[in-house]
Amino acid sequence: MEAIYLIGFMGSGKTTVSQELAKKLEVAVYDTDQEIVKLAGKTINEIFSIDGEEKFRELESKVLYSLPLKDAVVSTGGGIIGSEKNRAFLSGKMNVVFLNAEFSIIMERLKDDDTRPLLSTNNIEAAETLYNSRIPFYREAAFIEIDTSCKSVSIIVNEIIQRM
Ligand code: S3P
Repeated sequence: MEAIYLIGFMGSGKTTVSQELAKKLEVAVYDTDQEIVKLAGKTINEIFSIDGEEKFRELESKVLYSLPLKDAVVSTGGGIIGSEKNRAFLSGKMNVVFLNAEFSIIMERLKDDDTRPLLSTNNIEAAETLYNSRIPFYREAAFIEIDTSCKSVSIIVNEIIQRM
């Protein structure tokens, strides 16, 4: 099986869905953020505050290209589509799934989260601008789009499998 890549904004459900999907398909699961943390030996917040976003993006691309291309589900960070090279890497593949959720639902899901340096619930306008600016890039890179706003994880997993 070709690796399945889940893309989408923070809080769209990529991590949770990737775990259930991989379990159902009996393949390995990877999360680019977790791989970056392992590689850097620092948390995402530390990488952003100590090394800067540019360094984080460098590590993110490195991780993306190094993960297995077969028998895997890969959950990607929300900003993975910011790089043209990453978009080209993803859009050349059939199994790229864009998990999309309404902005208000994302903000509700992440209201108590302090692990995402680019998302501040105190600056909703900036977060919404970032969300709106990224949607076309997710669409450009993905083969399948699924609205995860009001669906259970098992429904989303089944929908991905059916549409593959
Ligand atoms: C980011 C999303 C995060 C993480 C980092 C930057 C982004 O991943 O990679 O905080 O730019 O959208 P999730 O999408 O898994 O939250």
